[in-house]
Formats: sequence, structure tokens, C-alpha cells
Amino acid sequence: MTKTFAFVLARPTLASLLGEEAGAFSHFVVRGAEAADLERLAQREAEVEATPWGEAAFADALRVGRPVLVLENPSDPEGFAAWAAYMPVLDEAELLIFGVRRDMQRRGLATRFLRATLRALQAEGCGVVHLEVRRSNAPAIGLYEKLGFKTSGLRKGYYLVNGRREDAILMRLDLAPAASEPAA
Ligand SMILES: CC(C)(COP(=O)(O)OP(=O)(O)OC[C@H]1O[C@@H](n2cnc3c(N)ncnc32)[C@H](O)[C@@H]1OP(=O)(O)O)[C@@H](O)C(=O)NCCC(=O)NCCS
Repeated sequence: MTKTFAFVLARPTLASLLGEEAGAFSHFVVRGAEAADLERLAQREAEVEATPWGEAAFADALRVGRPVLVLENPSDPEGFAAWAAYMPVLDEAELLIFGVRRDMQRRGLATRFLRATLRALQAEGCGVVHLEVRRSNAPAIGLYEKLGFKTSGLRKGYYLVNGRREDAILMRLDLAPAASEPAA
């Protein structure tokens, strides 16, 4: 049974989710993606991700009610700066997709956005977050480890990248109890 998290609809600012930690991004807003975002989501994904989701994958996620989130500076004509899709199941969630626009990378944006969504998930009763990442994706693994994710397994040859198989590292973050705060 899946569950849709209420914060997707609330359009909170990063400041309201993170306080001073939001730093220079305090005015950025988290909102649920809409049909009008699909083409741009797929474009942005293809610009940064070796195994990108296409428009149909994002559309499917929206259709079945999965939280597809974007982070945007409302005055940026380039549109959203980062995106994420989760699959919540009961009191756990899987992070399905996560990316930051190339020109916005290496400024701490992913750290803030991911931390904000993890806090919101935790506040709404989610206890564990799982994800899969390509073994060679050092930037993403660094990000996840920074936020407290631990390796929980391996799927050999899970990804097909340019005709070559690559292992998936499975990672998990335990959000509950409150002592294991994701913002550590
Ligand atoms: C992974 C990604 C989301 C990081 O976004 P970002 O906004 O640049 O990340 P941040 O600036 O918040 O950096 C957070 C941590 O990620 C790691 N990291 C980010 N970019 C890195 C790079 N180019 N090389 C090595 N480590 C990197 C570091 O550990 C960094 O912490 P530090 O700044 O204290 O060293 C971004 O590179 C991206 O969109 N990549 C393509 C899509 C992707 O791989 N998504 C994950 C799929 S599982």
C-alpha cells in the first residue's frame, strides 16, 4: 500500500523545513511536480544522469500518486534546480530518482534539498529510506553518506550503461527514532 506525503502539496520553503541551515537557498520552494513539468524534468535528467528517467517514467510516477518533488527559485527563468521522486510504502520510502541541474551543482543544494525531504518524510512517519546508486557514481554516494545513508547490499550488474553492466549499491537510512536525525 502506498502513501502520499502531505508536504508535497504544501509548497514549503527550504527555510521553513530547515531554518538557518537553508542558507542561501532559504527562499527556494519545494513543490510537487505537475504535468507541465514533465518535458523539462526528462530534459534535465538526461543532462546529468547516465541512466535517466524519461518523460513516460515521470508521468507514470505522477499517475500512480508517487511524490515527484521539484526545488525551485520562483524567480529563476530556467525553472526548477533539483528534483526527486520517492516511492512511499507504509512507513518506508524508496528514493527513486534525485538530481540537481548541472549549473547548480556543487553549491550544497542537493544536501539541503535531500535533508529537507528526509525531514519531511520523518515528520510524516517514515522510518526508513532505501535507494540504489551506481557503484561508480562517487558524487551521489558522497552525498548519501554525508546524510547518513549506509550500504545495505549490492545488486550485481543491475544497471546497463552504454552497453556495459554496472553494479548497484543499495543504501538505507534509518530515520527513527529522532536520535538518528538525518541532518547530522
Ligand atoms: C549527486 C548530485 C545530486 C549532487 O548534487 P550537488 O548539489 O552538487 O551536491 P552538494 O553540493 O550538496 O554536495 C553534497 C556532497 O556530494 C558529494 N559530491 C557532490 N558532487 C561531487 C563531485 N563532483 N565529486 C565528488 N563528490 C561530490 C560530496 O560528498 C558533497 O559533500 P561536500 O561538499 O561536503 O564535499 C549531483 O551531482 C547530480 O545531480 N548528479 C547527477 C544525478 C545523480 O547522479 N543522481 C543520483 C542518482 S542515485
